[in-house]
Amino acid sequence: MKALVLAGGKGTRLRPITHTSAKQLIPIANKPILLYGLEAIAAAGIREVGMIVGDTADDIRAAVGDGSSLGLKVTYIPQDEPRGLAHAVWIAKDFMSGEPFLMFLGDNLIKDSLKPLVERFERDKPHAIILLAPVPNPSAFGVAELSGERIVRLVEKPKNPPSNLALVGVYLFDKTVFDVIPKLKPSWRGELEITEAIQMLLDEGKTVVYRKIEQWWKDTGKKEDLLEANRFVLMEMSKDEILGETESCQIRGPVKIGRGTKLVRCRVTGPCIIGENCHLEDAVIGPFTSISFKSRIIKTEIHHSILLEEVRLENLPKPLTDSLLGRGVQISRDGTREGSLILMLGDQGEVQL
Ligand code: G1P
Repeated sequence: MKALVLAGGKGTRLRPITHTSAKQLIPIANKPILLYGLEAIAAAGIREVGMIVGDTADDIRAAVGDGSSLGLKVTYIPQDEPRGLAHAVWIAKDFMSGEPFLMFLGDNLIKDSLKPLVERFERDKPHAIILLAPVPNPSAFGVAELSGERIVRLVEKPKNPPSNLALVGVYLFDKTVFDVIPKLKPSWRGELEITEAIQMLLDEGKTVVYRKIEQWWKDTGKKEDLLEANRFVLMEMSKDEILGETESCQIRGPVKIGRGTKLVRCRVTGPCIIGENCHLEDAVIGPFTSISFKSRIIKTEIHHSILLEEVRLENLPKPLTDSLLGRGVQISRDGTREGSLILMLGDQGEVQL
């Protein structure tokens, strides 16, 4: 079995962060989302991965390389425009060369192991396996209508969802999927939808089976989802790993502090992760906070947030919470301009006061 990982798309719901970086490379607990998926694929025993890339191909290549550090062999497959998930499958047809494959959306994060799915596919040889998870907002996803063990119908982003079971961004297919994709028409959003391709497999009487997710899953397309994914992953941390220096600090774990990082008079409440070469003074951090490398935090309180690298925060008058800060963001207060806010924000920047 091979894998197809989708790492294209524009990430419009995560602007301005995605103006300069791929959505699949935003760090969760200081590791790019995409690497969690690739590690899960490697752990399921798959070696050959086709990676669909778009405008952010260079960044994805820089982060993943040839995949050998993860025990994978990665082949890049460029997609000219985000024309839909089924289009991405279609352009990988030659790469798959008739073999079954596991398709993984690079912005999805899933706790369940992929191994039982692969084993079930190899044992039962259906035409497709889909994964389902109950969600509070099914209209934002592909949704399945079931009747016992049978899948009755699949609909993409329905206004009136037939159930609360969303299609998770992990699918297994055999080569039959390549027979139906040419028959698809672009959806209302102008894309060839994989959900419709699977519906066609059902219509043609092919065997499509499902499995429900047992643990958590997140599609990290929006800030709130990223923060929640960060919280889930941090909650899995069980022990401290303090490689940096701490001076007069109160630390309640689990907390990870990277090499070359120094904390002076800080209070840190886990779970939390602070990357390498950061400097924090008189700061209150956590819980559920990830701070990437080379950041500088002075006299500031941060909860439930993700900070990318080289962020500088100084003397913030109120706690920073539920926030996602991109690379090199600087926020400070020097007391000389009381009563005004001085901002320089990128396109689609967002501030809530
Ligand atoms: C895509 C699929 C949708 C699925 C979701 C899972 O949605 O079209 O069926 O439920 O991924 O993450 P998109 O992220 O393109 O809105």
